Amino acid sequence: MIFASDCLAGRRILVTGASSGIGRETAIRLAQHGAQLIAMGRDEGRLAQTAAALAGDGHLVRAADLTDADATADIVQALAKEVGPLHGVFHSAGSSLVLPAKLTKNRHLDEVFGAGFRGAFGIARAAAKKGVVADGGSVVFMSSVSSLRGRQGMVAYSAAKGAVDGMVRALATELATRRIRANSIVSGAVETAMHNDFVSSVDETLVANYRDLHLLGFGQPGDVANAAIFLLSDASVWITGTSMAVDGGYTAK
Ligand SMILES: NC(=O)c1ccc[n+]([C@@H]2O[C@H](COP(=O)([O-])OP(=O)(O)OC[C@H]3O[C@@H](n4cnc5c(N)ncnc54)[C@H](OP(=O)(O)O)[C@@H]3O)[C@@H](O)[C@H]2O)c1
Repeated sequence: MIFASDCLAGRRILVTGASSGIGRETAIRLAQHGAQLIAMGRDEGRLAQTAAALAGDGHLVRAADLTDADATADIVQALAKEVGPLHGVFHSAGSSLVLPAKLTKNRHLDEVFGAGFRGAFGIARAAAKKGVVADGGSVVFMSSVSSLRGRQGMVAYSAAKGAVDGMVRALATELATRRIRANSIVSGAVETAMHNDFVSSVDETLVANYRDLHLLGFGQPGDVANAAIFLLSDASVWITGTSMAVDGGYTAK
């Protein structure tokens, strides 16, 4: 364990995308550091697996689709009304899309902007309402190096993650009066189901080249989870409106 095991004791933290990958690993690690989790995702079976892996008790599991900003805002507001103000939110839910611009249609945009951006915006809107996030709380959104660097086939995904990073900067200015912080994590490639779908759809040379762009190779979900713990904890009380690179050196090149 890298942080003190009680550094999040008594904190209520909502994790979206908790049924898989980065969200699941972050939920597990947050619970190990004393947080009380609300683990959210769509797949109830995989959410139950996450719940079974959470240390401590008093955690909640909620199945919800976060494609729509208005519905997401309502879900988060209702949750805070039920359990009390949240001390932190980690929004990991999102889907990827690898498709050239010439083939990208409105329905693809709906897909990639769904949980990834509209859901993020719903959380932002809820956080801006009084009593949803506790004063001094922290809201963290998953972004990607695709927000900062261009790659073929990533046009729509890059746009969605760029939207998240832009949103975070403006949101920070609205939440600062209550000392609520808003940040994003600009992640490089992390070995999760999403990543595996990608590497299995392209040839080996392309995967090797992509790996080489990461000075430290591909990441593991725990590498991002540690950054999320930092941003959700008091260790980062003076950090807001920023997009933190956790990318194995990808953007250094
Ligand atoms: N893996 C990478 O290399 C990488 C790199 C940079 C950024 N990211 C970002 O990191 C985040 C997590 O990625 P991951 O690799 O952990 O992906 P993952 O393993 O595929 O997990 C995605 C999660 O998002 C949830 N989700 C997707 N659409 C949803 C919706 N409409 N409503 C509610 N939940 C939804 C999924 O829920 P169900 O499974 O229950 O449907 C799942 O829990 C994403 O935002 C992704 O863009 C990933």
